[in-house]
Amino acid sequence: MTTVGILTGGGDCPGLNAVIRAVVRTGAKHGFDAIGIRDGWLGLVAGNVEPLTDYSVTGILPKGGTILGTSRTNPFKNEADLQRLRDNIRKFGLDAIVAIGGEDTLGVANKLSQLGIPVVGVPKTIDNDVAATDYTFGFDTAVSIVTEAIDRLHTTAESHHRIMVVEVMGRYAGWIATMAGIAGGADEILIPEIPFDLDEVTHHLRVRYERGKKFSIVVVAEGAQPKGMVEAIAQSARTDEFGHVTLGGVGNYLRDELEKRLDMEVRVTVLGHVQRGGSPTARDRVLATRFGVAAADLIRDKDFGKMVALRGDDIVAVPLEEAVANLKTVDMDLYKIASIFYGG
Ligand code: F6P
Repeated sequence: MTTVGILTGGGDCPGLNAVIRAVVRTGAKHGFDAIGIRDGWLGLVAGNVEPLTDYSVTGILPKGGTILGTSRTNPFKNEADLQRLRDNIRKFGLDAIVAIGGEDTLGVANKLSQLGIPVVGVPKTIDNDVAATDYTFGFDTAVSIVTEAIDRLHTTAESHHRIMVVEVMGRYAGWIATMAGIAGGADEILIPEIPFDLDEVTHHLRVRYERGKKFSIVVVAEGAQPKGMVEAIAQSARTDEFGHVTLGGVGNYLRDELEKRLDMEVRVTVLGHVQRGGSPTARDRVLATRFGVAAADLIRDKDFGKMVALRGDDIVAVPLEEAVANLKTVDMDLYKIASIFYGG
């Protein structure tokens, strides 16, 4: 009997449970036993696991979050943790591990694979910034949530003749801002990939105002920075342990700066973790299910050290090191579409 350990690591996202269900059910067809590892790599360090049966995954498909819990534990930060993790793999008789996660979780999976541990990766993140896959599940749900928020902000912006700044997630890549901004008809989209010019942004908004459109929507990714003015944001931002700008920083900065430069009221909405919560869209459920089935098939074929990925319409397997080599930033052809409408 093959025993497969399943874990979810890093920030949660809608669709994780759909993957777990698909791995357990497809695995059962291949004759595998499934063990759920609690709270990402932490569960494997601490020996916190539970059996996963057909019954335990019943009804979880539409549920947001992860029934296994998650953490950002990296066992490679501590030699003793890594040893405990290896001991527990032996103790629980794990023949393979399915690691469902973003860059960090998959980075650990890649290193374990290089140590000879049989691992298969499944990419997840609402940010859609994992390399080697066209899309990650969770992203479509986040884009839908942000698009709905932009639609709602439009009506109140128009009524009050205001500028609405909407800060969305995306620390290193502006996929959510770009896609939801286009879908919601944003008047300006600011992303981490391109430092923004405040004078240019102000100009676009002023032109719009003078053309009679007395309201605007500015969508900004949390990691976006003004050109050459990083310190200006840092003053009003919360920063994390790595010194990264976190939620609310750039949104509030933009509100303050735009109010100084334009004779208009500006309000800021920081959507935050609401973008990660709740039930996945149908599209994310299907992608997550396809990924889970493909991961179980890779284990059946003993094709380890791979990550399942979406390329075009196909699910393929790519080497884990390809997936963790870099981050996937926004497609500039897509981003340019947004700018066609600036000042309009
Ligand atoms: O899931 C990715 C992400 O949403 C990033 O965009 C964001 O910076 C980060 O997670 C915040 O997550 P947490 O508050 O859980 O650390």
